[in-house]
Amino acid sequence: MTTATPLIIAIDGPAASGKSTLGLRLAHALDYLFFDTGVMYRAVTWLTLERGFDIDDETAITLLAEKTHIDVAPASAPDGRACDVLVEGQDITWETRLPDVDASVSRVSAYRGVRSALSRQQRRIGLRGKVVMVGRDIGTVVLPEADLKIYLDASAEQRAMRRYHEILLRGGAADYSEILSKVIERDRIDSTRDVAPLKAADDAVIIDSDQMDADAVFEKTLALCR
Ligand code: DC
Repeated sequence: MTTATPLIIAIDGPAASGKSTLGLRLAHALDYLFFDTGVMYRAVTWLTLERGFDIDDETAITLLAEKTHIDVAPASAPDGRACDVLVEGQDITWETRLPDVDASVSRVSAYRGVRSALSRQQRRIGLRGKVVMVGRDIGTVVLPEADLKIYLDASAEQRAMRRYHEILLRGGAADYSEILSKVIERDRIDSTRDVAPLKAADDAVIIDSDQMDADAVFEKTLALCR
């Protein structure tokens, strides 16, 4: 008997749980497209700040999400990026990682109109298949028909510690307790919002990575694919 590799793989979970690292490795191993949907929310947030819009102006931000052409393409530079993020053709990959974007992206991604505009685009790309899609609501809302759903979890302390080490490794300065309180605050907003809150799909395989390193999580997921 042969078992087919799942065509649509959804990886959901809280901030800094290792979803992107896992998704990228899996996509390489299977020769699938890697699509981190969080970059779309980040792109709209960056544009909101760039244009000087009020972060509370849901109507204006929704219009922005509906009208802006956001593209995600394979990484064009060997500078640590997982993919290129393009807004109207402009490369804003690193701008989407700015602290100001970090601080506001949960607010923007809670807006119903923003979610429906971006989810529509994500679904269209996902339905092409051979894709590893990473986010918060892929298995529950964007692609409930995904063939394999992973919910990658880890404690807030463990996730904050990983972020802390990442920043130090890049030569930056970091404060662990500040990072931890931001992680907890983002978890709170992402999981209590009215629209598509962060939660595991009923049929997701839940992986808790507190006691597992990135290799072990990858091997376990790859085994599930095969
Ligand atoms: O994974 P990330 O940190 O890049 O996500 C940025 C924000 O976008 C985060 O606040 C959650 C939100 N997001 C979401 O609501 N739904 C998704 N499918 C992906 C991200």
